[in-house]
Amino acid sequence: MKKQFINESFPHMLHGGDYNPDQWLDRPDILAEDMRLMKLAGCNAMTVGIFAWAALEPEEGKFDFSFLDQTINDVYQNGGRIVLSTPSAARPAWLSMKYPEILRTGEDGIRISHGRRANHCYTSPIYREKVATVNRLLAERYAHHPAVIAWHISNEYNGKCYCELCKEAFRLWLRKKYGTLDALNHQWWTSFWAHTYTDWSQIDPPMPHGETSSNGLTLDWKRFVTHQTTDFMKAEIAPLRAANPAIPVTTNMMGTYDGLDYRVLAKELDVISWDSYPKWEDNETDIQKASDTALVHDLNRCFLHKPFMLMESTPSVANWHEYSKLKRPGVHMLSSLQAVAHGSDTVQYFQWRKGRNGIEKYHGAVVDHVGHEHTRVFRDVASVGARLAKLDGIVGTGTVSRVAVIHEWANRWALEAANGFQLRDKKYGKTRNAYYHALWKRGINTDVIGYEDVFSKYDLIIAPMLYLVSDELIAKMEAYVKEGGTILCTYTTGMVNENDLAYLGGFPGGKLQEVFGIWNEAIDSLFPTDVNGVSYRGRTYQAVDYCEIIHARGAEVRGTYTSDFYAGGAAFTVNNYGKGKAYYQAFRDTGDFCDDLIGEILQSLGIRSDFDGPLPYGVTAHSRTDGESVFVFLENYSKTEKKTRTAQQWQTVEDGTPITGEITLAPHETLILQRPC
Ligand code: GLA
Ligand code: ZN
Repeated sequence: MKKQFINESFPHMLHGGDYNPDQWLDRPDILAEDMRLMKLAGCNAMTVGIFAWAALEPEEGKFDFSFLDQTINDVYQNGGRIVLSTPSAARPAWLSMKYPEILRTGEDGIRISHGRRANHCYTSPIYREKVATVNRLLAERYAHHPAVIAWHISNEYNGKCYCELCKEAFRLWLRKKYGTLDALNHQWWTSFWAHTYTDWSQIDPPMPHGETSSNGLTLDWKRFVTHQTTDFMKAEIAPLRAANPAIPVTTNMMGTYDGLDYRVLAKELDVISWDSYPKWEDNETDIQKASDTALVHDLNRCFLHKPFMLMESTPSVANWHEYSKLKRPGVHMLSSLQAVAHGSDTVQYFQWRKGRNGIEKYHGAVVDHVGHEHTRVFRDVASVGARLAKLDGIVGTGTVSRVAVIHEWANRWALEAANGFQLRDKKYGKTRNAYYHALWKRGINTDVIGYEDVFSKYDLIIAPMLYLVSDELIAKMEAYVKEGGTILCTYTTGMVNENDLAYLGGFPGGKLQEVFGIWNEAIDSLFPTDVNGVSYRGRTYQAVDYCEIIHARGAEVRGTYTSDFYAGGAAFTVNNYGKGKAYYQAFRDTGDFCDDLIGEILQSLGIRSDFDGPLPYGVTAHSRTDGESVFVFLENYSKTEKKTRTAQQWQTVEDGTPITGEITLAPHETLILQRPC
């Protein structure tokens, strides 16, 4: 198995983060001290230039790269490397004043005033030109500097613009997608409420004071926002790749942020990175939090199916959380190594040093206002640096998963916009996470994939609430099961096509009724106080929120409702289809049914953790491999000591200590073990 490095020239775990020397240009003493402290903290990769446009181009056309020259050289001489950012996420005031078209227009139609960040128009030709110029100059100057190992494009792209330029671009995008207005009118079902369009110019984005009742429009507008953001990003990347295609390009993403379909952005990147800020609470709910965070790491790994970068995390507090609670002892090490366990080759922070003013002056940083290294946070960071330095053997290694969970943006967009079911909260994320949790706690490597991923390499695919399915996807699911795959779907499966147009002929749509061997006649959305029951294998599980009334059409009925007018009716079925199996869970459970079910399915497919010992709740194990060795991260998310045992012969990765038999994990401890595959 070939290792895949972020940058082959520096095959080490990266440790460091956002560094803003441009905030300290009048304090050369502090900049010099930074180098000493970086060494002490084991920081070898600093991200610079993110919000530095005002320093780089203080006046239009007048550039000053002196601070970057110095920083890049200093970090390099200090043994470190640079992740070099483009500055587009925040612009100098002169730029906004001179070219107001670059300022974003809100959904209320009002153009914003200069301020904050990440709020430019993605369509504006002037903004694109200004960004291209500064990016080209950066690239010409630094793309061959040996310190520069990656490009960091902008910062956390987000939001949308409703200016005339963006609206026009949206109409063009629609024309390209549908070809004719007739096609669009049909897919969006515009004869409803006399919404038929007779000219492309009549189409506006959804806006609170305008159109809010067209599901098709809402969905396509979200897709367009992704398209336009990606298009802007491509324009940013072009001059960088032109200067040196060997420097990998990334942009820092925000987990499952709803505003952008990250799978589309990911296709334009060489390496994936994301910013992770879970609210670690250090109590038993942390265990669910740990698995929710693990899922997002897996999602990021699977965008390109290779090691990714944890681009930002906090060394202590995130000051935008409701409560700036300090990370408890051990939590920083645990959460940092969790990312590595799931495929990250970096642990980076926002931020290196706390600034003196502005809204982030109390955000966690490696170096506090006190300015020295004698803080608990600094020591925590330094101990992460020391451990990462011993993990060279894991850098570039991959992850092998036999199970995948589907997370797809368009699905969530359509589902959450649907007027029906439970109106306000469909709980898509929570549902997906419940199935994932059942895998996570058993130490099962899991890929988090989308519609376009290869299905056939998985033995089991779990697709909770897979509401939006194109004909193409139906065919792909059918082929997957027919050829021997196992799939688990739930209530609200296969109801609309890719444009949110409901399927005719019964749910789930088209051939899925044959694959699952059922017909879903209706969905009963329960009041929050309602509970039904489902009897399965001699036990009664609670059914909440959704109970579908399904009819077996070839499937074996394994679970039945215990009350209400559909008591005795099918609630859980399995269908043998071709060489595979299709499970259908028609009701939402409270976590115990899906947990038991996943356990049962894993057992029937012989899917096991790479770690052979028992995993008490709160302890889990995830692995990476280079094809010769398997590296297992045995992680204890619990506040108490936990015991397990292994019959396998391991050694610790860091110092080669042999490990077998009983293992005791201290609270929050992570053991990194290795054995031959
Ligand atoms: C985001 C941004 C950073 C910083 C952090 C604070 O991730 O990218 O610039 O604002 O949040 O948590
Ligand atoms: Zn715009």
